[in-house]
Amino acid sequence: MSDKSLTLSARQTADFELLANGGFAPLKGFQGSEDWKSVVENMTLAGGEEVWPIPVVLATDLDVSEGDVVELSADNGKKLGRIRVSEIFERDVEKECENVYRTTDDAHPGVAATKQEGSRCIAGEIEADDMPDHEEAFMRRYFTPEQSRKEFADRGWKRIVAFQTRNPIHRAHEYLTKAALEVSDGLFLHPLIGETKKGDIPADVRMRCYEVLMEKYYPNDRVVLGVNPAAMRYAGPREAIFHAVVRRNYGATHFIVGRDHAGVGDYYGTYDAQQIFDEVDIDKLGIRPLMFEHTFWCYKCEGLGSNKTCPHTPEDRLFLSGTKVREMLENGEAPPHEFSRPEVAEILIDAYKDL
Ligand code: ADX
Repeated sequence: MSDKSLTLSARQTADFELLANGGFAPLKGFQGSEDWKSVVENMTLAGGEEVWPIPVVLATDLDVSEGDVVELSADNGKKLGRIRVSEIFERDVEKECENVYRTTDDAHPGVAATKQEGSRCIAGEIEADDMPDHEEAFMRRYFTPEQSRKEFADRGWKRIVAFQTRNPIHRAHEYLTKAALEVSDGLFLHPLIGETKKGDIPADVRMRCYEVLMEKYYPNDRVVLGVNPAAMRYAGPREAIFHAVVRRNYGATHFIVGRDHAGVGDYYGTYDAQQIFDEVDIDKLGIRPLMFEHTFWCYKCEGLGSNKTCPHTPEDRLFLSGTKVREMLENGEAPPHEFSRPEVAEILIDAYKDL
């Protein structure tokens, strides 16, 4: 035991977990200055061989020296393990925000979190004795990357499509995932359950939505529902690659990227998160993006589609803004079945009563 200790924030706790469980492989600990620079400037780890789009650093003012061992606890106080400090460095927060988030605007939640963490970082390999706690609902669906890989292998799956989400699954999401199911061996529904911004639906509520959909609308033998303990960064394009790297580690071969993936507000163009894949070496990345255009319900087609499959005009299509959907749910009103399955709407209406 060392006499130095640090309680991690919720975001840092999530990073620790993914470092410890293999979700962030090949990382073995919090990144140092060389990796930080290469990630921020080139979207690779130092050396250029591994694609890595967002720094995983441990920012802290804790008084330590190189060589120290610092005991780490989760945000709820649970003891997790330790870091062996190999470097203490200052990161250029403005540059990180500019390159990773494409903005330095404090109103961007990822930028705000990065600025709040500050510039001083300690780097080093971690040792894990334990994992952060999760609610029972998440633990029932918890796979480490090793376990999900085994699950896919046991099912005989070779072509596995992963789906990231931080929202309830509405009809458009369902369409993407089912289109993917048509051309793959199986679907890995991998919702993010770490910290999200105010206004996003809490993960435990979403989990109930995913489970009811699995029960009523998906072929269970072709879908695995897991949970990704990561925190949301809202880094749009860079986070799309980040999300893909993590799902590669969990054993997926393909990764769905739709409209404005991991976006927030108007910071990113609708397809920026798809175009960024042109900038990385897909073979080195080790997972292929499966791109989808903006999907909607069309009354004339009587089904879901996109500009690629539907020839009709915007007036024929159902469009509901996030704000409108929220308003409806808050007023106890279910969005139309063309937008959301009634079972999902029911769970959300119920949850809004307590939010
Ligand atoms: S995200 O932050 O996790 O990307 P969300 O849960 O809304 O947010 O999206 C999950 C995935 O579905 C992302 O790949 C996103 O691009 C895609 N997506 C969401 N809605 C649509 C839609 N209407 N059309 C096409 N893709 C969509």
